[in-house]
Amino acid sequence: MDPSLRHDNDTWDLATSVGATATLVAAARGAAGKAGDLTIDDPFAEPLVRAVGIDFFTRWAGGELDLADDGSRRVLQWFVDLMAVRTRYFDDFVCNAMGAGIRQAVILASGLDARSYRLSWPPGSTVFEVDQPQVIEFKTATLAGLNAEPAADLRVVPIDLRQDWPTALRRAGFDPGRPTAWIAEGLLPFLSPDAQDRLLDSITALSATGSQLATEIFVPLTRDMLQPVLQRWGSHGFDIVPSDLVYDGDRHDVARYLDNRGWQSVTTPMSQLLAAHGLAPRADQSPFADNWYYTSIRSDGST
Ligand SMILES: C[S@@+](CC[C@H](N)C(=O)[O-])C[C@H]1O[C@@H](n2cnc3c(N)ncnc32)[C@H](O)[C@@H]1O
Repeated sequence: MDPSLRHDNDTWDLATSVGATATLVAAARGAAGKAGDLTIDDPFAEPLVRAVGIDFFTRWAGGELDLADDGSRRVLQWFVDLMAVRTRYFDDFVCNAMGAGIRQAVILASGLDARSYRLSWPPGSTVFEVDQPQVIEFKTATLAGLNAEPAADLRVVPIDLRQDWPTALRRAGFDPGRPTAWIAEGLLPFLSPDAQDRLLDSITALSATGSQLATEIFVPLTRDMLQPVLQRWGSHGFDIVPSDLVYDGDRHDVARYLDNRGWQSVTTPMSQLLAAHGLAPRADQSPFADNWYYTSIRSDGST
């Protein structure tokens, strides 16, 4: 992490700092759709990215980038593959949780995630989206401008996840007595190791027996890996390097931490997800294979 870029009370919109990483991943989802990737279907990704207005990402999401074969194409295609299969993992998680009868979901760090609008939520489902206020306000206003309707009872909770978000969540109508499906996709490295523990403790305290939690442990793309695209981003006014924004330092293994607190976790490596979609990682793609996905089920709830 570059310490000059992060501090405990930092804020952002979708074009700056950590917020811009939400635009980056949404652009990849848009590009997956434009390339005819059937792994996911996110029709909201492109218009949301377009509304943010970072030229490079707008054209990438719209399938309009002219990618000379100079290394950019390879890096961007890796990233599109990665985002498509990880999105699918979390989509499947939601479907399985709803199939198990859960009707309350919390999407932590929702960014430009449009699951509340694009998934088939069973009747009676309530979805809470938690992210920083400027992020929530932008997505809500943009989707309203597109006449998009949530497919569930959507409650937005605009708050920083390092603050007292459990109180804000309860005020928005969250019921800790009901099992919950929690999503933390693309979030944890942006929290310090301590803040990660606090987040997992809060989730545990709010989770009735039968709750489910899906988390992602990702290896941020380093400057070296991004080198072929950094100059292109920069020439379009986007000079953010995701690896400069994540917290270094030892942190608890999420599955072990949760399993010591009444959860039971199943681990899936990214390499397995890629292979399941016919995208076995090439040797030079190996850093992506180090991402891990956990689905944890609360077997010993406090409520
Ligand atoms: C890589 S984006 C992922 C967005 C979304 N989950 C997705 O996969 O499309 C990271 C997101 O984490 C959110 N985030 C990071 N730290 C946060 C914090 N302390 N409080 C609230 N949101 C946070 C950012 O605002 C951003 O939307």
